[in-house]
Amino acid sequence: MHLKLADVSAHERYKLLIGLVIPRPIAWISTWSANGVANCAPFSFFNVFSEDPPLCVIGINPRSDGAMKHSLKNIRRTGEFVVNLVDETTANAMHVSSKEFPETVSEFEQTGLTTAPAVLVQHPRIAEAAASFECRLYQLLEISGTRQLVLGEMLLVHAREGVIDPQSKRISEEHYRPIGRLFADRYCTTRQRFNLPGDLPA
Ligand SMILES: Cc1cc2nc3c(=O)[nH]c(=O)nc-3n(C[C@H](O)[C@H](O)[C@H](O)COP(=O)(O)O)c2cc1C
Repeated sequence: MHLKLADVSAHERYKLLIGLVIPRPIAWISTWSANGVANCAPFSFFNVFSEDPPLCVIGINPRSDGAMKHSLKNIRRTGEFVVNLVDETTANAMHVSSKEFPETVSEFEQTGLTTAPAVLVQHPRIAEAAASFECRLYQLLEISGTRQLVLGEMLLVHAREGVIDPQSKRISEEHYRPIGRLFADRYCTTRQRFNLPGDLPA
């Protein structure tokens, strides 16, 4: 079968896109709100698109009541944010932190997470995360009234002990077990991996 995406509703397009383009990595964004409350939320319209400069992109839509998501508000206010990466040990906290809490409620407190200071940006990182990137807003693309693309320049990476080999900078498959977003409340692990033969350029 084939479907013209312009001929289906936005909700059906959403189902097609998030059901087919899987698994997606998750940017677990942490920020301070203007009222000093530590905020975090997951975003799976996310990936990295360049290493020189190191850029990530995150797609953000409004909250269910039409208001701007707190993460976006905080990014717009400060031009900075932290992208934390989610592994098996933090999956549940990430999922719970996606609830639409009011701005006075911290997802850190709701999930038992701990804030840790960043080095170059004013926002907190998630101490329990396997890895975190401190980011500076590179560009904000206002695609429509309901869709904004945040381009972030990744400035500094934190990683849990053992995740990055200090000499080779390789990532340990044993110590880093990221999860991926499928759709709705479904996720996958990255446990089953395989090699394909051949010396191909990266
Ligand atoms: C795994 C997962 C991925 C999500 N991805 C996105 C996304 O890419 N864009 C988006 O706008 N919301 C996404 N959400 C919903 C936000 O996490 C949710 O609206 C959250 O309450 C926003 O919090 P905030 O207002 O504190 O920023 C996702 C939720 C989950 C559970």
